[in-house]
Amino acid sequence: MIKSTDFGKDFLWGVATAAAQIEGTSDMYGKGPSIWDTFAAKSGKIKKGHKINVTCDFYHRFREDIALVKVLGFKTFRFSIAWSRILPFGKGEVNPEGIRFYHNVIDECLEHGIVPYITLYHWDLPQALEDEGGWTSFSINAAFNTFVSICAIEYGDKVKNWIVINEPFGYTSLGYMLGVHAPGKTGLSNFFSAVHHTALAQAEGGKILRAEINNANIGTTFSCSEILAYTQSDNDILAAKRVDCLMNRLFIEPTLGLGFPSADWDVLEKFQIEYGTWRHIDRYKFDFDFIGLQNYFPLTVKYNAFIPVIQAWEVKAKSRKKPHTAMGWEINADSFYNIIKQFSSYPDVKNIMITENGAAYHDKVTDGKVNDAERIEYFQLYLSALLKAKNEGMPITGYMAWTLMDNFEWAEGFNARFGLVHTDFKTQERLIKNSGYWWQKFLKS
Ligand code: BGC
Repeated sequence: MIKSTDFGKDFLWGVATAAAQIEGTSDMYGKGPSIWDTFAAKSGKIKKGHKINVTCDFYHRFREDIALVKVLGFKTFRFSIAWSRILPFGKGEVNPEGIRFYHNVIDECLEHGIVPYITLYHWDLPQALEDEGGWTSFSINAAFNTFVSICAIEYGDKVKNWIVINEPFGYTSLGYMLGVHAPGKTGLSNFFSAVHHTALAQAEGGKILRAEINNANIGTTFSCSEILAYTQSDNDILAAKRVDCLMNRLFIEPTLGLGFPSADWDVLEKFQIEYGTWRHIDRYKFDFDFIGLQNYFPLTVKYNAFIPVIQAWEVKAKSRKKPHTAMGWEINADSFYNIIKQFSSYPDVKNIMITENGAAYHDKVTDGKVNDAERIEYFQLYLSALLKAKNEGMPITGYMAWTLMDNFEWAEGFNARFGLVHTDFKTQERLIKNSGYWWQKFLKS
């Protein structure tokens, strides 16, 4: 049986969250609207019309929730700062209540001996900035830099661990190309301009944190998925390569100073020319102390000439009769190992932290308990794969489970439950699931 001490005594065990998914009070205490507030208020955008204004009410309950982090035995708590709680209009006037709130959250962590990890951008752009074009507008970079400076100066004495951006591919693709996440924009030109400005913001944010905070440990996070070809035909193999460029390589490579991976996907060549990305190669680059990897599933793809641009199509886990979670995401711990290996093979990746990993299931409360045996099995499989990678010398320094408690799962609303703690969204009652108790025991082992 795997033990937490197998990973070494300095390995960092944590649990991750994000502001928009847990805080609630979305239009209270001086907070300005974010793109998620606007998006969720529109009909048809969130499953079952679920609303984002209360979620887990963490704003009022953070003390109890941080106490739960302690009870479960995690050493670190990852949370994000809602930009529009600090700057209601994205820039200009600062909201003192917002500033105070995050001081309180940080102080509560520190009092419990829990190390705070702060994410600066976890998808909740101030609506006022979206009204100026959001991530597609060049003016976003100055606004983001100011926001980063304010947070660094305000909290940098107490907090040393920072994550600049959560999954740049996640929000640029879902929010600016496919339109299924906020702000609901579509099309390639929106996507590529969001990619360009995000890549700049990521590096510039890192540089600001470095300049403002002594002894800062600075990272950023990337979503990643092993991409497998459905068959060994040339067409499927090339399709898998293109999807790999898009989903895995698009942001890490400019961050490492390698530019965008256009040699393996010609569409990126046009983007490079349009945005003159080669001129910015140094601006995209930053020497992060750690790279956060977030993995949930591998993807199996096949060539499909009818899909514009990428010409690839996912062959779902269900149709291949593979085990999958309630999201339909394939459970495949070998692919977790393989994708960590892929990212470890970049010579300049010095430290890898798994900043998110977890699974949604159709949990049920029975006799005051949530017996989520499948989630326990998921964690056991994935942690074993992680240990294998670590023992083979891949530079893995920590792991954060997604997520502390069931929360607002973006376009899925409250239907997808990823928590180690069950949330009753009517009463806000928290109930530690069996997987939470499993973690508690594991972290003592
Ligand atoms: C995001 C989280 C999200 C999780 C599960 C990650 O892409 O960072 O905010 O809840 O995946 O979908």
